[in-house]
This record gives sequence, C-alpha cells and structure tokens, in this order.
Amino acid sequence: MSQYQSFPDSPGASQTLEKLKALNLPDLGGRSFLDVGCNEGFFCGFADFIGASRSVGIDKSALFIERARRRFAGCEFVQQDWSDLPQGPFDVVLLASALHYADDQETLVSRLVELLSPDGVLVLELGIVSSHENEWIEIDRGFDRRLYPTMRKLKDVLAPYAWKWMGPSVRQAGDPVERHVMHVSRRKPTAYLLMLPPGYGKSSIANGLFPKAGIRIVSGDEVVARIAAGDDVAASPQLAALVRKLYSPYCIDQVVEAAFDEGFGAELARVLASQAQGTDFALDAFIPLSRQQQVRASLRDMGYFVVDLGWDRMGIAPSPREMAMERIDRFAASLADESPSAAAGARELAPAGSIDEVAQDRGVVTIRGWAIDEAGQLPSDWKVKIGYRERAVIRLEKQSRPDVQAHLGLVHGRVGFVLEVRTGKAMFDFGKGKVEAQFTTTAGCRLSLAARLPNTPSETGGAARRVGQ
Ligand SMILES: C[S@@+](CC[C@H](N)C(=O)[O-])C[C@H]1O[C@@H](n2cnc3c(N)ncnc32)[C@H](O)[C@@H]1O
Repeated sequence: MSQYQSFPDSPGASQTLEKLKALNLPDLGGRSFLDVGCNEGFFCGFADFIGASRSVGIDKSALFIERARRRFAGCEFVQQDWSDLPQGPFDVVLLASALHYADDQETLVSRLVELLSPDGVLVLELGIVSSHENEWIEIDRGFDRRLYPTMRKLKDVLAPYAWKWMGPSVRQAGDPVERHVMHVSRRKPTAYLLMLPPGYGKSSIANGLFPKAGIRIVSGDEVVARIAAGDDVAASPQLAALVRKLYSPYCIDQVVEAAFDEGFGAELARVLASQAQGTDFALDAFIPLSRQQQVRASLRDMGYFVVDLGWDRMGIAPSPREMAMERIDRFAASLADESPSAAAGARELAPAGSIDEVAQDRGVVTIRGWAIDEAGQLPSDWKVKIGYRERAVIRLEKQSRPDVQAHLGLVHGRVGFVLEVRTGKAMFDFGKGKVEAQFTTTAGCRLSLAARLPNTPSETGGAARRVGQ
C-alpha cells in the first residue's frame, strides 16, 4: 500500500506538515484529541507532543495503525471503521481528507459533533466543489468516484452547528477539488444580556432589536413582579418570600440587589433563563455591576453562549435619590432660615426621637420611628444594638412625618426613619429582645431610642434617653 502521510524518513503523497499548519488546531494542551481516519498517526503524534491529556487515532487500515503505533507510543491507536466510534467526549476531533469516503457524509459529521465535549471543536478538512449549486457533486478521481459538497451544500450540512471557515488547506498533486478547513462546534442557545441600570433605555433597545429577529425578550421587571404575585414562576419558596417582602413596582432594582445580597443570585439567573426554555433570549433586567459576572458565569454553566450588550447612558442622569433628598432638605431649611417669620422664630431644638414599630423577618430587623437633631434634621449617624450586640445598619431611609412636623413646629417633616439591620438567620435572644437605636447629632449629642422585638414583653414606643454629652 502506498504511503499517504509524509515523515522526514519517508515522504508520502500528502504534505502532512503543511496540512497541520493549515488545520489551525485549537490549543490541545491538557485536552483530549481524536483523529478519525488517522492514517500513520501524524496528527495524534503532534497532539501528544504538545501535551494533550489523551490522543486517540482510529483507522480501518491495519497496516496504517500498526505503523502509527510504532511511531507514536504515547497515543492510543485503534483499528476500526468509523461506523464504530470510540467513547467520547473529546475536546477536539479531526476528520482530515476522509469525509468523501463516508457513505453518509452528513450523518458522519453529526456523529462526530455528538462526540464533542460541550466546548469541543470538530476540525473538518475536506474538498469543496466550486459551484453556486446546493448539491453533492460526484467527482471522477481517475481511480474512483466520490461525492464532494459545494459550499452551499456544506453550509446546509453545518446549519445546525456553529462553524467557521478557517481558510484553504494544502493542495495535493492530482487534487480534483480545492481543500478547505472548517471548525465546527455545537450551537448553544444565545443569551443577549442587557443588564444596565434603570434609565439606560434597555427596554427600548431590546424591543427595537429582538422581536424582529424572532428572539424572545425576558424582562426582569416582569419576572420579579410575577414572583411577587405568586405566579407560576420556578422560584424557591425562600426567594419568593424575599421578593414578596420587598416588592414595589417602583424599586425592582432594590429587590434584585437584595436577592443577590441574600445569596439568591444564581437562582434568579436560572429563573430568568428558564422563561426562554432553552432558546435564544434577550435579558432586559437590571443586574448590579458587581453581580454581572456571576450572571454571565451562571448562564455559561447552563450552556448558553453569552453576549453582553453595553452602551453609555444618554441625557442628563437624575441625581442619586439620597443625594436629591438631602439637597431638597437643605433647600427647605434655607428657605425657612431666610423667611422673616422663621428667622424670628429660629430656635435650637432639643434632640429627640421615638421608635414606633419594630418588625423582624428572615434575619432582618426593621425599626421605624422619627428623630431630630438640634437643627430639626433627621440625624444620619446611627448605631443599632439588638440585645447586647451591635448590628450593621444595612438601610437608613428618610420618611415624611407631617405629624411630628406639626407637633414640634419643624420647618419640614422629613424626620421619619426606617432602619434595617441584619441579625443573621439564628438570632439568640441575649438581652431579652431589647432593641436600641442610637444616633449622634452633628453637635455631638448622643441619644438612645429603646424598644423591644415583637413578641417580647413591652412591645414598642421607645422613648429617647440621652447616653452621652
Ligand atoms: C486520505 S487518508 C487521510 C489520512 C489523514 N487523515 C490525513 O489527512 O493525513 C484517508 C484515511 O481514512 C481512512 N479511512 C477511510 N475510510 C475509513 C473508514 N470507514 N473508517 C476508518 N478509517 C477510514 C483510510 O484508511 C485513510 O487512512
């Protein structure tokens, strides 16, 4: 039998080293490699040489397999027909100059793609007939007749997969058709991610792009609303409880943020993706910047091809809410300072406050009340103790308290507060349910407001007690 592959000691019909260059093989280091129709094992030898974790070659010719074993002891060579393929998966599968020998070429391609690991690549080196037709064309090679695809036919065959034309391969003496190299992999569903903050125009862009392409849009706002409403969305009872507790259509971004803070990020990504049932989809959902990498990784783990879409915000952005409220308060105070009646009645107030309500749910204690400093403003420096332990304040929100404003004759009523502290899931009741919210005014006065956790003696209504200075 004449020799096909070329080695320095024995040239064959094919310029094998040049073909290796044209194949553009993916990095094989640490990866598994299978060469179907491996001949004397040249490419398996290369894979082993550069550190493939496993290098397997099959060929139906006993002579070629015997020579391959002699040349490359580090590889596994099996004499068998490709109707019986080895057990996969393989990271890289090569079929070079052999597809035309298959009785059913399309089926062989699909069986080879089936052998790939999830991110694996099938390297196809084959003859392609130059023609605009969409057909298999029988070519007379002098010694036999074989079917070769036109480019249009090959595109049809590869339509179910992701593929890329890598360039021409080497020509060989007497070649009846030009050879080309294609890299083929499994086609994954695509997740187009629009995760920017509210106000970036995510929904407009998504609606402008994706329905036309028949790609479903998954709206984070809608999914969160459906979880809150108890609709049939595959969320765990724990995630559903958190969403229900925090849900408001005006602050879905905060609900999403809290879900990530509480460790539900991967689940939320799964629930969002499940809406598309394994097909391509566009995610129109705010995801905090620090969590976006987690969402991308979760979707990749679910088998998606992830495309991240980002752009700059257009127009003048509103100030962050806390900053805007602070400015409005300062403006209100300045108006009051400047008005003659206020100037006449301007007085220093005694810092005061009270806790009206304490609630406890899933490791978070919420304290509502009001407080003022010497200038009639809500203090911003708070410490909270539950029992004997100080707990980190995770939220301080100002609220309007017209009742307190009227009662104390304040210039504005934004002296109400909602404080949230996290206690963790298991909270020992050291201190018998005592809740203490302390604030320090800019003038240095420290006041403590006391109350009790629900279901402990003497529920709420904590009076202020001066604790320093
Ligand atoms: C033209 S050679 C190409 C060899 C090698 N792939 C290369 O490019 O250097 C075709 C190879 O496919 C093998 N072959 C043909 N039909 C086969 C089959 N049904 N099963 C396994 N190997 C086959 C032949 O024995 C031969 O070694």
